[in-house]
Amino acid sequence: MLSKIASVAVGAVAFSSLFASAAPTQLYKRNVTVVSNCVNSGQVALTFDDGPYLYEGDLSSHLGGSNATFFLNGNNWGCIYDYVDDIRALHAAGHTLGSHGWSHPHFNSLSSDEMNDELEKVEEAFIRILGLRPLYFRPPYGEYNDLLLSVLSARGYTKVFLWSDDTQDGNEVPVPESEDVYDQVALSYPEPHIILGHSVYASTANEVVPYGVSQLKDRGYKLVAVDACMGVRGDLPYEVVGKPQNGTWQCS
Ligand SMILES: *[C@@H]1O[C@H](CO)[C@@H](O)[C@H](O)[C@H]1NC(C)=O
Ligand SMILES: *[C@@H]1O[C@H](CO)[C@@H](O)[C@H](O)[C@H]1NC(C)=O
Ligand SMILES: *[C@@H]1O[C@H](CO)[C@@H](O)[C@H](O)[C@H]1NC(C)=O
Ligand SMILES: [Zn+2]
Repeated sequence: MLSKIASVAVGAVAFSSLFASAAPTQLYKRNVTVVSNCVNSGQVALTFDDGPYLYEGDLSSHLGGSNATFFLNGNNWGCIYDYVDDIRALHAAGHTLGSHGWSHPHFNSLSSDEMNDELEKVEEAFIRILGLRPLYFRPPYGEYNDLLLSVLSARGYTKVFLWSDDTQDGNEVPVPESEDVYDQVALSYPEPHIILGHSVYASTANEVVPYGVSQLKDRGYKLVAVDACMGVRGDLPYEVVGKPQNGTWQCS
């Protein structure tokens, strides 16, 4: 199934000569949309990249029952297969999970084969762990090009999520600087926002986010996952592929 999708012809690039002459007008299986903000007034989507690692559980518990979005790598700060139970717990808690690529590369410098490999390995992990294929992608560094969009479309992705506000925790700025981003967002109520953070820092999970969540909720914001804040443009973040599997998997 994975290899079949990977062999759909994309633009000038065909992954399999078998499909090279197939319907050149059907370049995209779906249209992938690049999104940098929510649509619904009064809603903010907190997003956390670069996990799984150590702080997803802390983040989940500091969201006070609200949903967030986690864009997971396969093998970055942690190996995704070492966090199977944590990932299942995030999903069960109602959070939305998307792909952030296997090894957090600069996608703009990759060939289509390399892009497909980065995407396929994360999809395989989601399918094993959750029985779901991810349809949302956040590019590392926010970098994307036409080749990436066509590769994502051919693989069935529907959305590329960027962000409207960056807490800069990825640059390891002092906590008050990240908190200030939440203050500014809170003041803008009810404008929608997508906030970028990372689930790999204790300070984000246990200082910035508890502070930010209380500021936003005090102002009246509802905190939701990215699929919930898109209004009529929202769509499902996954394709159901099967049941979660039992196994012991490794990243290398
Ligand atoms: C994708 O976009 C094109 C151009 O806007 C449109 O003609 C086509 O119907 C769209 N395909 C899907 C599957 O939405
Ligand atoms: C969180 O997301 C789940 C799954 O989409 C949904 O059922 C639940 O109502 C959401 N929770 C809140 C508080 O919005
Ligand atoms: C995984 O193991 C559990 C417990 O042994 C079992 O109930 C479940 O059916 C298994 N799932 C699959 C997909 O084999
Ligand atoms: Zn990242």
